[in-house]
Amino acid sequence: MTDSPLFYQAGPALPEVSHADGIMLWDTAGRAYLDGCSGAITCNLGHGRLDIRSAMLDQLDRVAFTYRTQFESAPALALGHALVELTVGALQKVFFVSSGSEAVESALKLARQYFVAAGEPQRRRFVSLRPSYHGSTLGALGVTGYQPLEAPFATLTQASLKVPGPDFYRHADADDDAHVDRVLAETRATLETAGPETIVAFVLEPVGGASTGGRLLGERYLKGIRALCDEFGCLLILDEVLTGVGRTGAWFAYQHYGVTPDLLVTAKGLGAGYYPVGALLARDDLVEAVMASGGFQHGHTYAGNPLACATGLAVIDAIHREQLLENTRARGKQLGTGLRALAARYHWVGQVRGLGLLWGVELVADPDTREAFPAEQNRYAQITALAREEGLLIYPRRTLDGMAGDHFLVTPPLTICADEVETLLERLGRAMARFDRALADEATAQPMEVRQS
Ligand SMILES: Cc1ncc(COP(=O)(O)O)c(C=O)c1O
Repeated sequence: MTDSPLFYQAGPALPEVSHADGIMLWDTAGRAYLDGCSGAITCNLGHGRLDIRSAMLDQLDRVAFTYRTQFESAPALALGHALVELTVGALQKVFFVSSGSEAVESALKLARQYFVAAGEPQRRRFVSLRPSYHGSTLGALGVTGYQPLEAPFATLTQASLKVPGPDFYRHADADDDAHVDRVLAETRATLETAGPETIVAFVLEPVGGASTGGRLLGERYLKGIRALCDEFGCLLILDEVLTGVGRTGAWFAYQHYGVTPDLLVTAKGLGAGYYPVGALLARDDLVEAVMASGGFQHGHTYAGNPLACATGLAVIDAIHREQLLENTRARGKQLGTGLRALAARYHWVGQVRGLGLLWGVELVADPDTREAFPAEQNRYAQITALAREEGLLIYPRRTLDGMAGDHFLVTPPLTICADEVETLLERLGRAMARFDRALADEATAQPMEVRQS
């Protein structure tokens, strides 16, 4: 044990951060790190932005906190309108929170309360994907499909139905369309067995994030799920905590696919690391029904405070002003091309996949069978440690339900420029070359010792 009072996950001792600027961070020993994952896919505008600082200071000088039952505030109203506008009016109502988990909890509860108000209280179950990640609070965990996170709490979370989504890397169907059709048919069968009249909503990320390593679901699948929800009378909740506010090159990832949700949640990039702020967006008829039944029985103390909303507004303003959606698409293409070129050098890269500036790189022991490395080898942690040694931060996770499989996300700030993408790729290239040499050495030497992070 160290003498630090702080504890998070088990893992190696961490460097102490000193300061940051743009896409770079420095530790107190003077080492520089390129932020290739925007922290936790959060610092979407990079670090040290004077415009965000100035918007926050202006608000701090007026009023930092007011409680939502006592005052309305101009920043909250303006951010609400801005978010509705980003959905092009598809969703008309906004409920603020401070984190992704809170946003997911809020969506689950609003959807459930809607059906209670609508005289369908038998709708009490949610359907989500395995693997998936929707947050760490008990409700959000209940729709999360990631074994190690679920296991200790399985008796506390009301189990939702977890169904597989499409896997365009590992499927053995005739082609991708046939695969999607089979997955949809199996999902329909699961819902029919469970009783479609018991389902509140489908919850999914339109583009997979940390739990799947940027796995794409595709238009055919998303449209199929939308059609199933309509047929069975349940709601579609899209979790855009990670993908929302520009990450994939559209304001929201669903906009790539022409599929409109009934509820949408977003967080991480909305505050861009400058302040915790998230939001639930919903169709107005759902909200009206709940409000008419006595109000939404839910809320958090810090939700929608003026400082949070002023920060979110400044973030959206910066994305508009600097045309960062365009930058995300252009730099995303450059990054994807570069990652694929690196992957082509090494047989242990199974797949590179992604959209905008959300890229996942999956590692496999055998590219022909697509078999994962033995879980205890912790390859995802090893490559992340090597990247860190090369001055690059990437975001590692397990691919196969949290139990095995190795991938890392490359998700730099949306502000990244072309030269910085090249620097990122050079550093990653050096880490991958070292990983490759270490794998080759392992046949004759001791395995790499890197603890799980
Ligand atoms: C898709 C998704 N949903 C929900 C969450 C939970 O967000 P938070 O950590 O802010 O509670 C996350 C966090 O990683 C996420 O990626």
